[in-house]
Amino acid sequence: MSRKALIAANWKMYKTPAEAKAFVDSFLPKVAGHTRDEIALFPSPVLLPAVTAACHASNVAVGAQNIHFAEQGAYTGETSVLQVRAVDATHTLIGHSERRQYFGETDAIVKKKLYTALTYGLVPVVCIGEMLEEREAGQTASVLKRQITGAFGGMTPETAEPIVIAYEPVWAIGTGRTATPEIAGDAHRVIRAEVAKLLGPGVAGAMRILYGGSVKPENVTRLMAQEEIDGALVGGASLDPDSFAAIVKY
Ligand code: 13P
Repeated sequence: MSRKALIAANWKMYKTPAEAKAFVDSFLPKVAGHTRDEIALFPSPVLLPAVTAACHASNVAVGAQNIHFAEQGAYTGETSVLQVRAVDATHTLIGHSERRQYFGETDAIVKKKLYTALTYGLVPVVCIGEMLEEREAGQTASVLKRQITGAFGGMTPETAEPIVIAYEPVWAIGTGRTATPEIAGDAHRVIRAEVAKLLGPGVAGAMRILYGGSVKPENVTRLMAQEEIDGALVGGASLDPDSFAAIVKY
């Protein structure tokens, strides 16, 4: 089954509004007319209005890095799905490993956020991946299965259709230590098989599974050559417009 790749930039906690605008002004002409892949930028919430305005009517989508599971409410410091929608963002990351590691996000919280994103029409990019100790202990497949069941258990196939998964082995994030295309491909096969078990082969075959973890212009082509890899979620190498455009045009 052919799946349109998604190449996405996770800017994490970098850039001011002026820097974000300068990025978009430089980046858009470099990828103008690029239709082979979908392209998305995930900036911090304070940058969303500037980035969605600058990307308006372009081939670049914009998403949040996180949402709260409640529609709105007394949750100091959080960002609601209504706020994200109101500034024209269309996507959201959910359960990034940095959220799980540093902010206590559990599989149960990820599941609630996923339902909120789907209910309000945001395309969710659900991040999963094993820690180094888990890989070394031979637990990669069981961790991925637990994370997938935790997020998708009980969901109907129709509800799950918009979901994108990002496989991000934690040991490859920001370390320069990219998973080999074979390691990533193996993990993606485990993930797709588990999604097929829960949601059926139709949804699993159509679902995009991105790879993330030290993706760079130098390694993206080899990764994207894997049948199972349907795109990339890029941190550090997405902060510079030339570098990210080179990744998009692998
Ligand atoms: P790096 O590309 O900096 O390793 O970050 C990956 C990541 O966490 C994307 O979400």
